[in-house]
Amino acid sequence: MTPLLLEIPRRCLIVDDDVARRAQLREQFEADGFACDDASSSAEALAKLALTAAPLVFRTCHGDVSSDLAFVHEVSTRWPDTAIVVLVEAADQTVAIRCLELGAMEYITKPCPMTEVRTRVRQALERRRLLVENRTYRHELETRVSLQARKYEELFLASLQSLADALEVKDAYTWGHSTRVSMYAVAIARELSLPAHTIDQLELGSRLHDLGKIGVREAILNKDGALTTDEYAHVMEHTTIGWRLLAPLLRDMPNALAIVRSHHERFDGRGTPDALRGHEIPLEARITSVADSFDAMTSGRVYRSGMSVDEAVAELRRCSGTQFDPACVSAFERALTQQSFPRPDWTVQRPTALQIVA
Ligand SMILES: [Fe+2]
Repeated sequence: MTPLLLEIPRRCLIVDDDVARRAQLREQFEADGFACDDASSSAEALAKLALTAAPLVFRTCHGDVSSDLAFVHEVSTRWPDTAIVVLVEAADQTVAIRCLELGAMEYITKPCPMTEVRTRVRQALERRRLLVENRTYRHELETRVSLQARKYEELFLASLQSLADALEVKDAYTWGHSTRVSMYAVAIARELSLPAHTIDQLELGSRLHDLGKIGVREAILNKDGALTTDEYAHVMEHTTIGWRLLAPLLRDMPNALAIVRSHHERFDGRGTPDALRGHEIPLEARITSVADSFDAMTSGRVYRSGMSVDEAVAELRRCSGTQFDPACVSAFERALTQQSFPRPDWTVQRPTALQIVA
């Protein structure tokens, strides 16, 4: 964009094909304190403006209406901060009005005394100053508003992450789980060439996918051993609990919210909570399901060691088409092969946040 010219308001380009009049105008403008340049034609003037934009262009219309109008149009389009003043024949009021419509700020009819030229030029420069100031103010305001909005968004996302972290403190052996699931999910999404706005929602939703475990009894959540049928059913309520908790916060991110509700659906329709089947399950949830299961399998618990990466991948393959969407499993394998994320060290039983603090 053309730089603002507030700091150099006393420069002027005079465009006139009449040598004597051009010299006379230049002399008068310079006597009024302008630093002047001049041009005998539109082409010469445009070339000079392209090298150095001027805050004021004074154009004498010479009877070739289409050329005059084209010049005004081009200057006002390419250099919107330039004030254009046109000098027209008294009989050419229509041309003057068209010039104003195309972006000129003032017109003067011939013959006119220099005092009137000065007045009109001063008026044009004052209007230009106000326009430039107004645009600068608007631009600064928009920048401030957008910075503020970004700050609020960051704060909002940080609050949600804190909620996810709060859960991981409670569910001691899943520390870092949501971050890793999110990392795997994003890698799968990139393999599937999903658009950036979908990946943004996937990243957030996969971080929050287990938030509903806040509502699951701690004794069951941290039980060392297999769950009874009732306990398992209680744990699985975390999908709908999380969905209810987050619905007011994720109104504008329905795909992220869908992950929270549907990440335990199965491709064969035998999942929870809605027994959705195949592509009825939102894609983001199908992706998160693969990422979630891989991390669960490669994470050690007190009562069992984690699987090796190869064992976990074999299990994903075995359940491809029944529990998992085959396209998501394949994309995960491609991401793993291409080292899109660090291979987890499944031999380590990860410390909990509480242990770190202690
Ligand atoms: Fe879950």
